[in-house]
Order: sequence, then C-alpha cells, then structure tokens
Amino acid sequence: MEQGKYYIFTYGCQMNVHESEKLAGILEDRGYTKAGTPEEADVLVYNTCCIREGAEQRAMGNIGNAKPLKKNKPNLIVAVCGCMPQQKNVEATLKQKFPFINIFGANNVEFFGEYLDVFLKQRKYQNKILQDQDYQSNDKKIKIVRDNPYCAYVNITYGCNNFCTYCIVPYVRGRERSRPASDIFNEVKQLVEVGHYKIITLLGQNVNSYGNDLTEDKTTFPQLLEKLSKIEGDFQLRFMSSHPKDFSDELIEVIANNPKVCKAVHLPVQSGSNHVLKLMNRNYTREKYLDIIKKLKAKVKDLSISTDIIVGFVGETEEDFEDTVKLLQEVQFSNAYIFIYSKRKGTVAEKMEGHLPLEIKRNRIHKLLEIQKKYTNNHFLSLVGSTQHFVLVEEERPMHYIGKTQCGKVVKIKKNKTLCLGNFANIKITDYSGGNLYGEVE
Ligand code: SAH
Ligand code: SF4
Ligand code: F3S
Repeated sequence: MEQGKYYIFTYGCQMNVHESEKLAGILEDRGYTKAGTPEEADVLVYNTCCIREGAEQRAMGNIGNAKPLKKNKPNLIVAVCGCMPQQKNVEATLKQKFPFINIFGANNVEFFGEYLDVFLKQRKYQNKILQDQDYQSNDKKIKIVRDNPYCAYVNITYGCNNFCTYCIVPYVRGRERSRPASDIFNEVKQLVEVGHYKIITLLGQNVNSYGNDLTEDKTTFPQLLEKLSKIEGDFQLRFMSSHPKDFSDELIEVIANNPKVCKAVHLPVQSGSNHVLKLMNRNYTREKYLDIIKKLKAKVKDLSISTDIIVGFVGETEEDFEDTVKLLQEVQFSNAYIFIYSKRKGTVAEKMEGHLPLEIKRNRIHKLLEIQKKYTNNHFLSLVGSTQHFVLVEEERPMHYIGKTQCGKVVKIKKNKTLCLGNFANIKITDYSGGNLYGEVE
C-alpha cells in the first residue's frame, strides 16, 4: 500500500551513509517510496553527524529549511536521526529551535521503525535517546535499500571504545560491539551471490579491534578477512577505518597476500607529534606508525596509503606541527583528509588548557594542504605507466568509460569492446593531465 514518499538527508561518515540505506529499508517496508526532492516528501529524515561543528551547522541549516515545507504540508513528518541528537541536551535544544520536529530517532536504526509506527498511530511526538544498554549489534532483520549497484557496505562493528580525547563518537555511538562472524559471512555471501556487488566495504570505527568483545566463535579481523575471501565470486574486500594501535603484522600479511583484499589502506595518523598523540590518547607513537607504514610498503605491491590529520589540537606547538609536516613528507600519502580541530562538548579535550586561536589553526591547515597537494599530485603522476588491477568500470560516456581504481581515483578509459559496466578490468594508465587520469585496457 502506497503511504507516500520519503526523502533522506545524510551527513557524516560511511557508517551514516549505510544507516540511511537501512532507514530507507524501514520506510519502504512501510509502503513509502523514494521522493526525487524534499518538496515531494511526506517523510523527511535528517541523518545527522556531529563530528565537527561544521557538520552540525550544515544539518541545522537544512533542518531549518523544513519549516516552510511543513507549513505547506501540515502532515509532513520530520525526523532527526543519527549522531547529533545523541549528544547531551542537544535534543532539547533542537526541539526548541525547531518545534516542528516529530521524531528524534536514535543511532541504532532498528528503533526508527518503532517510533515511526507509534507516531503514525498516535500522531504524538516521539523521542528516544539511547543509553548504553539500548545499543544492539544485531541488525539482520532490517531491509537495506542499497544506493550503489556495485559497492555494498557491511557493518562489522558498531560504536567505539577508544575515547580519543577530541572525539565525540564514543559518546554518541556507545561501546564497541562486534557482529558475529557468521552473520557477516552470510551477509557478504548473499551480496556476492546477487552478482553485481563487486566491492564489499567492511565498516567499523576501528576495524582492527573486531572480535575483541566476542565470546563465541572468536575471530580476529585478519581471520575475518581470510574467511570472507573464501566466498566464491569476483569481488574485492575493502575496510575502514583502521586504528594504528591495533594494526597487526598478521593484517599486513593478509593485505599483502590475499588477492581479494584491497591494496589501498586508510590509516588515520591524526598527528606526527608524540606529544600531541599522547594528548589525543591515541596509544601509539610516531615511530610505531612509521614502522607500520614501512612494513606495509615493503610487503604490499602497488600499495596506496591515505590518512586523516587534525591540525591545531589543544596544546599543539609550532614544533608539534612541524613534526606533522615532516611525517607527511616522509610517508607521502596518496591522499590526506586534513581537518581543523573542532571543540566537542563533553569530550576530554574540551576541558584541556591551551586551545589555539582559529587564526593559527587556519594558517596550519593551509600550510599542510599546500604540502599534501604536491604528494597527491605525485601519486597521480606515479601511476602513469602502471597497470591498475581491479579497476571498477562504473559508467559509460560518449567518448570513454569511467572507472575507479582501488584507491578510489577516477580513470577515463578508452573505449574497448571487452569493457563491461559493473565489472573489474586491468587498466594501463597512459596519462595524467588536467587533473584526469587516462587509461586503456591492458
Ligand atoms: N573511527 C575513525 C573515524 C573517526 S571520524 C578513525 O578513528 O579513524 C573521522 C575523522 O574525523 C577522524 O579520523 C579525525 O581526523 C576527524 N575528527 C574527529 N573528531 C574531530 C574533531 N573534534 N575535530 C576535528 N576533526 C575530528
Ligand atoms: Fe573517534 Fe578515536 Fe573512536 Fe575514531 S577511534 S571514532 S577518532 S574515538
Ligand atoms: Fe559523524 Fe557519527 Fe559518523 S558523528 S562521522 S556520523 S559516527
């Protein structure tokens, strides 16, 4: 029975992108269909993020835009889900600012269907902010409406136990919970059997600590990768994010030797200074990080490494910042996501002494972005002449095909009869110019 249409705004990380696919499943199970624009929708869902102030401001601005929509369509249901309302007192603030919000969902999407059902029956404001005991790790029953026909996300852990001092995630996503390996195996197997899902991305805030909390069928992350790679079919396993403190030699071996495991590693370093890493509670040193990189580079052929960096953390001195610059120069990442430190309420860093003025943070980020630009460019240039394996052919254009390399770089591929949409190809990179990679079938 057609109930009406839904529109979902998604902010934040891959975890949220995937959760929006589950929210869509919950809505479609109840007879809603996808709207092309927010104006057409009968249910508007904001799946929010609060990792930095900017993410919150973007969501706030868009929630504000729902006011005139609600005026035109008084029965419009407005739901705010995701990480933002899980913060202390934020639900009350949002409700005061936007009294038209009908439902505050929560971070475990399972609950969203429940709230929606009650709201539809009673038309009464629904909210539930989760406590630790409410978090679950078993989402087998939820229908997932996947966005991408070739790439599928699969959760392996939820939540986070690391409490990096700058980070809000452990407060809004609860403690780390691993899904049973057999559930993950079955989900990946079903996806591979569908035939068109070629890239399976395993999701967790720290995939390397997968399994630490399992009591039955104990499995480590490298063991999980090995198990999943035994599934028959033409697919690749990717994963994110990795935490350096738990990045084992065993994992390096699996990346190096298992052809189904992607050769692009995202390994957030956050800072190159031991002083700052300690203040951040990252539990590794610059030396340990560089040691992992050295081993990876030695063992994995055609490896690309990307990272996340925070500049202007509380107490970061000019020398600390220079240590980060030097680390960037030493590792030469293929890509780095660089952020200005953003103060988050309730975190340990919020109360630390020595917050830096915005101007210093801005100067530092500009300097770092400028340096990284050179390495990103060098990485592109280094690909010319190489053969890239597992390039996924995603789109056909009049003059060429569009493919993506294992590390997510777009390649314009010369037309060739053997190329097939949604399949992997081995592509020889012939040129890099005007910001584009060009290639042809090997
Ligand atoms: N669990 C993952 C991802 C966490 S969020 C991991 O640990 O790698 C993604 C990135 O956002 C982090 O790696 C960090 O670089 C950045 N980040 C998190 N909190 C931040 C804050 N308060 N200010 C600025 N950047 C932040
Ligand atoms: Fe945040 Fe650290 Fe957990 Fe990543 S590992 S989500 S940065 S607390
Ligand atoms: Fe944002 Fe929550 Fe992800 S705060 S980065 S959506 S875990």
